[in-house]
Amino acid sequence: MIDMKTQYAGLTLRNPLIIGSSGLTNNPERNKEFEKAGAGAIVLKSLFEEQIEMQSDVLMQESDYPEAADYIRGYVKANQIKDYLELIQKTKELCTIPVIASINCYKVDAWIEFARQIELAGADAIELNVFFMETDLTYNSDTTRDLYVNIVRKVKETVSIPVTVKISKMVGNIPALVQTLCVNGVDGVVLFNRFYQPDIDINNMQIVSGNVFSNHSDLSDTIRWTAIVAGKIPGVSIASSTGVHDWEDVVKCLLAGASAVQMCSAVYTHGGEIISQVLTCMEEWMHQAHYQSLEQFKGKLNYANIPNPAMYERSQFMKYFSNRD
Ligand SMILES: Cc1cc2nc3c(=O)[nH]c(=O)nc-3n(C[C@H](O)[C@H](O)[C@H](O)COP(=O)(O)O)c2cc1C
Repeated sequence: MIDMKTQYAGLTLRNPLIIGSSGLTNNPERNKEFEKAGAGAIVLKSLFEEQIEMQSDVLMQESDYPEAADYIRGYVKANQIKDYLELIQKTKELCTIPVIASINCYKVDAWIEFARQIELAGADAIELNVFFMETDLTYNSDTTRDLYVNIVRKVKETVSIPVTVKISKMVGNIPALVQTLCVNGVDGVVLFNRFYQPDIDINNMQIVSGNVFSNHSDLSDTIRWTAIVAGKIPGVSIASSTGVHDWEDVVKCLLAGASAVQMCSAVYTHGGEIISQVLTCMEEWMHQAHYQSLEQFKGKLNYANIPNPAMYERSQFMKYFSNRD
């Protein structure tokens, strides 16, 4: 009997497949369909701090009363939050799998009260999607670490459900950041978020949106950092995310040390059926390899468990090019 159960960030999942935060998970009935298709957990679409600020700005520009600014900001925020809490409550009414709420934030204090309400609405965990890109020439990267840590500390002080952080792969020393977050009480990390990808339209001289969806080539970084972080920080709970498109990708992330994976682009592209396909193929692979549980192979190929961990590092890249004609 094959058991796909996994522990991720203090939650017990019936299998490691999590539907990643996106428009896919913005609807309670659709979330129920993902559960029926076999998903192990769902991360709801993020509520965006920026989005609330932008909406408030538009309304304020339309208003003849500048003194109404605080009122408008408060009104927009309250309504967006009310809708979001309803999404949590309705999804929890329909689903039995863990439901993880997501907050996209870049300021410390803005979301503390909201985190409390998310917990009361019944979410099983909170994923903090910290959006921040270091672009300032005079920027000190310790500031990024402090930003992540301060948000985690404050939210952890406020709620008792597990708190995870979805990290950008554009931060500096990823293992050091994850370790600092673990020391400060984070229950799990998502490696990685994938931001809006800009492109240039050379005919219209405009910046346009690049590929919204990831592809297979995006998986390499996810595997590399999952393996390195899992190998260097024993006990860390990782959900690999970005570039996970089929069952083999899921197995690779688990071998690298992930406790779970998040899928988004593949579900947009192939629909919810991909979940059951992935689970069936994984089960077959485990059967053939004589594994009865994920624990038997999870992390088998992480940075600490392979004879040549440099395989996950840059030296191999240089060797490849130096050997090419
Ligand atoms: C259309 C779309 C909407 C998304 N919205 C969110 C979001 O609200 N919050 C979030 O944390 N990530 C969001 N993401 C990022 C995904 O959760 C995921 O991290 C990213 O797509 C990489 O995973 P993938 O390779 O499986 O697509 C979105 C992605 C897509 C394609």
